[in-house]
Amino acid sequence: NPDKSSAAIAYVYRGTFVHSTQQTALQVQEDALLGVDTEGKIAFIGEGKKLEALSQVFQFSPSEVTQLTEHEFLMPGLVDTHIHACQYSYAGTALDLPLLQWLNTYTFPVESRFKDLEFARRVYTHVVVTRKHHNSCSKSYDFGQRALVGKVCMDRNDSVKHYRESIQESHDETCRFIKEFLDKKYPLAKPVVTPRFALSCSRELLEQLGKIAKNNNLHIQSHISENKEEIQLVKELFPESESYTDVYHKYNLLTDKTVMAHGCHLSDKELAVFKETGASLSHCPNSNFSLCSGVLNVRNVLKHKVKLGLGTDVAGGYSSSMLDAVRRTLDASKILTIQDPKHETLSFEEVFRLATLGGSQALSLDDQTGNFEVGKDFDALRVNVAAPGGPIDLIHSEGPKTLLEKFLNLGDDRNIVEVFVAGKKVVPFTEPKAE
Ligand code: GUN
Ligand code: FE
Repeated sequence: NPDKSSAAIAYVYRGTFVHSTQQTALQVQEDALLGVDTEGKIAFIGEGKKLEALSQVFQFSPSEVTQLTEHEFLMPGLVDTHIHACQYSYAGTALDLPLLQWLNTYTFPVESRFKDLEFARRVYTHVVVTRKHHNSCSKSYDFGQRALVGKVCMDRNDSVKHYRESIQESHDETCRFIKEFLDKKYPLAKPVVTPRFALSCSRELLEQLGKIAKNNNLHIQSHISENKEEIQLVKELFPESESYTDVYHKYNLLTDKTVMAHGCHLSDKELAVFKETGASLSHCPNSNFSLCSGVLNVRNVLKHKVKLGLGTDVAGGYSSSMLDAVRRTLDASKILTIQDPKHETLSFEEVFRLATLGGSQALSLDDQTGNFEVGKDFDALRVNVAAPGGPIDLIHSEGPKTLLEKFLNLGDDRNIVEVFVAGKKVVPFTEPKAE
């Protein structure tokens, strides 16, 4: 529908596109055309053989169309729904303790160093640069990435006593942080209200954060039901609440803009509350394995119709790659099948959907991103499965479904030849011109 977009066409791709919809985990379009307008939105999608007609309606020159090779495809950007930027410096180490001991021994001491702004700048720059390839929905504006970013709040910490705030500080710093974003300096970034987890927050702080989120219609993120010891302590600290879920629900922290990490041990009754409130889960299997936290039954979450995306949870998870999150999600599902052959293993197509559209839904960004629909922002990866020097050897010529499966299981950055966020090419990265 040409009336949908008044902006001019910036570029057009022709070739194979793969994406997910609500109805279909994997939809493949071969020899298709996709046009992106100057505002970075998908202006049209059509059949390759309709090139002439489309070029007249949308006024672009057929000779300027970029043709993908037979080993290439476009797919939606991978969405990491949960990562700790300030834990990046020790990713890949310190995975020998369970959650609470891990936090006290490794995490809190490192995070408390971020009061040194030079250290903070160094680590955060690294996070943004190294994550460009992995997905389109992560940390920063400077490099054109889409991001939801929170300031972690905790007013309770018995182990590293200098690393906690007063309720007032937590409140004021959260408001200051949000204001930065509301001034709209970062068009692709949004602020997230972030109580660390129930164990590190007083009731008063949880209540205040719930109010801030409600009054400003903001996203919320936290952790829930990650490990059994944590759940037991939440029970002891909040005896008035029926469950861990109930603690957050009571303080208005479960909304349709909430994403809670882990949820490995949630009961069906708690999942029903997630469904009812529209809150979503971030499945972080690398972290759940690395800290021996638990194995989330994604099939059961999906049966409860709870929104779910994938997360890397660096540094509880050692890899910042969303391809790793895809693989660990498949592993977690297969472990459940080994334990109970009646368990219905997730297919790679389903996990592909969780890593793209599922993540967008979990972050309430699916009106803007997550798949290739006219009017959405063009957030995409151009994948070359046979990239020279890359990890994948193609012996025979393969259909698009097999190419995607090989990429998900065997691929790496070398196969991701271009990354687009809101229509802008962020990989390969070109330095912005000096003004
Ligand atoms: N629960 C509370 N804080 C954290 C954290 O930093 N990482 C993980 N994995 N779980 C948490
Ligand atoms: Fe986490």
